[in-house]
Amino acid sequence: MNLFPDTTSVQDGHLSVAGVRAAALAEEHGTPLLVLCAATIRARARAYREAAPDALVVYGTKAFPNISVLQMLAEEGLGADVSTLGELRFAQRAGIAGDTLVVHGNNKDDQELAEAAAGGGLVVLDALDEVERAAAVGVKRTLVRLTLGVEAETHEAIRTGHHGSKFGLPPQHAVEAIERVRPLGLHVHIGSQLVDGEAARLTVDRLAAFAAECRARLGWTPEIVDLGGGLGVRTSPDEPEPPSIADFVCELLGRIESAWAAHDLPSARLILEPGRSVVGPAGVTLYRVGVVKHVSESVAWVAVDGGMSDNPRPQLYGARYTALLANRADEPPTGTFRVAGKHCESGDVLIDRVELPEPRRGDVLAVPATGAYTLAMASNYNGVPRPAAVLVEAGSSRTIRRRETVEEVLGWET
Ligand code: LLP
Repeated sequence: MNLFPDTTSVQDGHLSVAGVRAAALAEEHGTPLLVLCAATIRARARAYREAAPDALVVYGTKAFPNISVLQMLAEEGLGADVSTLGELRFAQRAGIAGDTLVVHGNNKDDQELAEAAAGGGLVVLDALDEVERAAAVGVKRTLVRLTLGVEAETHEAIRTGHHGSKFGLPPQHAVEAIERVRPLGLHVHIGSQLVDGEAARLTVDRLAAFAAECRARLGWTPEIVDLGGGLGVRTSPDEPEPPSIADFVCELLGRIESAWAAHDLPSARLILEPGRSVVGPAGVTLYRVGVVKHVSESVAWVAVDGGMSDNPRPQLYGARYTALLANRADEPPTGTFRVAGKHCESGDVLIDRVELPEPRRGDVLAVPATGAYTLAMASNYNGVPRPAAVLVEAGSSRTIRRRETVEEVLGWET
């Protein structure tokens, strides 16, 4: 139960989030359905703000680009980190102010750079040719993204600060960019789903050494230091518990202070860009159980009405999830089941093994810790429309993203 949102409870066998029964949500809004708990999102945003009151905290919009979520986070004092024109427009539609907007992208086109400039965002230069291209369209506020050769302990597809990364500039190129543009500061992001802070602390040490080298060679030091996002969340009970937001941020702050002091650097304004750790634990995905098949002594399948089109993370990163039956949440498990999606391939397995009471057609399967990078990466594979999302708060629910229809999917055809 501790993988579920803060407001989760079980009463009369029913799982509720923020005082709303999951089975009622499935009935009213259909399935698959992403349910997000507003109180959990707000609490996690506040944890960042409280741990680093002087920092600018920007939400990594890619984790779940949604206008209501961005607005709620803005109320908590967060800005937005965007990485494409689409995400920039989400942030702008949500009313995110330019001075709390950080614009990323390893291959920004001219329109992205021009709109970032017009919107007043802080642009993170990711390539040498961006120095002139950004200046030409009026970008004034910049950071230079640095790749310091840190191998963060995470899936290789979401590691970004290693030697040879497609992101950022290696130190010698970063020095050149800094000399040419005289940016406001430096940016690093070493990877996502980090479960220990060691790589992040090592990065801070290297960053301080790099900043000291810039002072010596160029007479320049960073006014801003952006440490990116990356704090992981647990999606299955057999995974290690990542540090709390407070511990992760406090350790980083402490390390910056000591590393900066060791090089006698002037203090810099900090930016943090958390995505997953803000929305991940706030989300529960609800599916309707369909076919249940005991195919052998050892293999029992429970098939749900979604799968890799609404959550491709098991296939992409070997992500592991857990589940319970939301309408029979107080029943003890009777066996171990594999949860399959409805897609036309054997790899469409959402959960490899989970203990459940014997599922029945029509039950509601609830998968926690699915607020980040699920619906955000959803597709129309097999012609399946993408799910809806609802925000639950104080006993009521509100649709924050409408369910697609097959007609809409067909609408792309010519
Ligand atoms: N800042 C930058 C520059 C990033 O590239 C990212 C994530 C973030 C911040 C937010 O990181 P977070 O706090 O969410 O770890 N689809 C993958 C994750 C890709 C992360 C991309 N960049 C997944 O499902 O695990």
